Amino acid sequence: MVSEEQSPDSVYLFAYATEKNNHHNGLHFAWSDNGEQWAPVGPEHSFIRSDYGTWGGEKKMFDPFLFRDNQGLWHLIWSLNHYDDVFAHAAVDDLILWRRQSYPQGVEGRNVLLPEVTFSNKDQNYRVTWLSVAHEDSSYYASTTNDFKTFSPPQEIQAAKRQDLRRDIEISGNMERGTVHKVPHSMVIELIAEHQKTEARNKLWSETTKGDSARFAGLEPLKVSLSVEGSKSKKISEQLIGIFFEDINYAADGGLYAELIENRGFEYALSDKKGSDPDWNSFKAWAVKGDQMTHRIKTENPLHPNNPHYVELTVADKGGALVNEGFGGIPVKAGEKYDFSMFAKVMKGRKGKILVRLMHGDNEVLAETEIKRIGSGWKQYSAELTASKTIDNARLELLPQSKGTLALDMISLFPQKTFRGRTNGLRADLAQTIADINPKFVRFPGGCVAHGDGLDNIYHWKNTIGPLEARKPQRNIWNYHQSGGLGYYEYFQYCMDIGAEPIPIVAAGVPCQNSSCGGAGQQGGIPMEHMDDYVQDVLDLIEWANGSPDTYWGKKRADAGHPEPFNLKYVGVGNEDLITDVFEERFTMIYEALQEKHPEIVVIGTVGPWFEGTDYREGWDLARKLDLAMVDEHYYQPPGWFIYNQNYYDNYDRNSSKVYLGEYAAHLPGRPTNLETALAEALYLTAVERNGDVVEMTSYAPLLAKERFTQWNPDLIYFNNTEVKPTVGYYVQKMYGHNMGDRYINSRIDLNGDYEKAVENRVAVSVVKDSQGQALIIKLVNMLPVALQTGLKVEDLKISATRATRTVLTGHPGDKKLLPVEDEIVVGSDFEVELAPYSFSIIRIEN
Ligand code: AHR
Repeated sequence: MVSEEQSPDSVYLFAYATEKNNHHNGLHFAWSDNGEQWAPVGPEHSFIRSDYGTWGGEKKMFDPFLFRDNQGLWHLIWSLNHYDDVFAHAAVDDLILWRRQSYPQGVEGRNVLLPEVTFSNKDQNYRVTWLSVAHEDSSYYASTTNDFKTFSPPQEIQAAKRQDLRRDIEISGNMERGTVHKVPHSMVIELIAEHQKTEARNKLWSETTKGDSARFAGLEPLKVSLSVEGSKSKKISEQLIGIFFEDINYAADGGLYAELIENRGFEYALSDKKGSDPDWNSFKAWAVKGDQMTHRIKTENPLHPNNPHYVELTVADKGGALVNEGFGGIPVKAGEKYDFSMFAKVMKGRKGKILVRLMHGDNEVLAETEIKRIGSGWKQYSAELTASKTIDNARLELLPQSKGTLALDMISLFPQKTFRGRTNGLRADLAQTIADINPKFVRFPGGCVAHGDGLDNIYHWKNTIGPLEARKPQRNIWNYHQSGGLGYYEYFQYCMDIGAEPIPIVAAGVPCQNSSCGGAGQQGGIPMEHMDDYVQDVLDLIEWANGSPDTYWGKKRADAGHPEPFNLKYVGVGNEDLITDVFEERFTMIYEALQEKHPEIVVIGTVGPWFEGTDYREGWDLARKLDLAMVDEHYYQPPGWFIYNQNYYDNYDRNSSKVYLGEYAAHLPGRPTNLETALAEALYLTAVERNGDVVEMTSYAPLLAKERFTQWNPDLIYFNNTEVKPTVGYYVQKMYGHNMGDRYINSRIDLNGDYEKAVENRVAVSVVKDSQGQALIIKLVNMLPVALQTGLKVEDLKISATRATRTVLTGHPGDKKLLPVEDEIVVGSDFEVELAPYSFSIIRIEN
């Protein structure tokens, strides 16, 4: 290892982790000029945190061991927990910008504690040693490496061979254990500066409108001027606004998917909720009424192996009913028709009939029909029901009319009025509300749902196409159930229906790094011996979407009702994954196969869940290495971040990969969604439009949330069984969605005075031209508590129109319910408008 600095200005640096926050705080530094008195850098700034495994239970750092290699590169190894047989490694040049983490294997089945490293001059090798404790037995092991990627098989060693290189040092009154290094004082100064920079920017980013009255005390309404340089314009993306759809918050089953029966296939399982709810089983949402009938869940001779459970009813006499209450009640509308269907077979007894009813209250029949002569083999039966009343919480009852034993499965009820009248379709009001944004693309099926909770939970598109009874339901990573009824065919169909590009996201051969099932995190990935099959699945997706009906997969699409190709142009590979060697190997395989077989497809890579940090840097490095066409960025940040980061894309390399900002939202403490968050998003989107030559697409996330069933806030559209409740942020998306352009025109807002950044950054403008519609669109955001009298000098734009449409969204920052208001204003080469305090305005001039 490099000898540590001995220059006269060298100081001591102590690297350690604490128990605080349940070991989640990662690596800290303290320093000393005499080795006696120590000062923490921070206090306790976290320089790197463990990214191993699930949130909460994992992502811990125990006993970090820092050392420097022959080339001067720093390495950190640490123990992850007290049970797994792996440890962690990460390297860094400057102790600040850490590279990717890896989790090398220890002795299989034995934990790895107190790892440390020594260097053997003789072998020119690093030797990692660790303690492993199982029951009463503790042993030491060693493994050698020269690159920290490949390690020799671990060997047991004598305890005496361990050097125990850590020291115990008191930091802020607590004894901590770690490693001590001599470093130049300048290095400590940089670490302290890094901490101070973080503190300063966090302070800015945490500004909220709650502090506005003090922050802007004395600020009077301003007179500002907007000038436009008509001659300076650039081409920007025409598909900036799109949709991020993920089955989170009951967005699919019980949400956008119009099926009214919960657990229609009897496939809910305890494992959907990891056993936490004993009622979440195959009979969830079902009940049997009356003593004349009993039920059993069975799996022998199922309808389809992918759908193994069904209900068996033993009927002693008529009078009993099998009841489903839907997703918290079945909403029906007077006079509307509903399609009932089920698979059934008689196991014992006569070919009898079944009454099918929609019921309300004690005994009110809202609709009734009957299925006659159920036969002895699995067969689908269907009927139509017309509701006599509008009721939010009806229930479905099936009343067998003959004694005997019956098997039933896939019991389904759909309104006939689905979106665009599609069978197996979408809830019309929700689908329409989404379509009203005018999205240019729809991303699906996630989010985390795409890469799943552990290897077994990766979303496989092939499981979600074809006959419903043959689709493979699975656990939803958000702790519930996905029936797969809303599957790839339905997603693509919806895209066609609303004129949006489909953007499927497939897992990059690794599950979510935060996985809690089947191992800790993504490490491991799909075993390499199965990767060829997985890559083929991805290639098959292109054939399914775009291939002619003569091809194997194209035929499946055609058979499902869509002989014309879906014209798929994009495939996202990965979802904000941890960028590790495991990821890179698999991502590259998928990418290269797609490039080779389908160079026409734009592959969208992934650069982690943050706007900076290791995954962001490593993801971008990989994108540049592979020359990816586009990467998917994600960041959920406080409004202050959006206010102070409007220059985020200004310096992006125009010749590198393009950006799809696939997930973003402004998050206030407590996660409400209101005018404040919406305006922060609107403000930031003006900067995104300015960078529309780099950022090709954006999608707010998540999209949908069912009231009382949310796992994530805020969302764009809330709903319950009967109502759709768009948020204020939704209207920002809609205003942008209807006012996209294809050319960005240079413009500038002048506040006519010297104001602080806090004022300047709360006013934003973007001027775009929609060449097709010949419209000029001016977007103005005022996040200040005062009005802005704005003079617009737009002679350069050669406006011939004298009137324009103005759409304004304004109110109190805490308002959760607001609608944009539209009026007409007089425009010319020079005109004035007032921007209300806390407002977003769009002036659309049809020229
Ligand atoms: O949008 C909700 C979640 O946020 C997504 O599933 C995931 O990609 C991100 O962390």
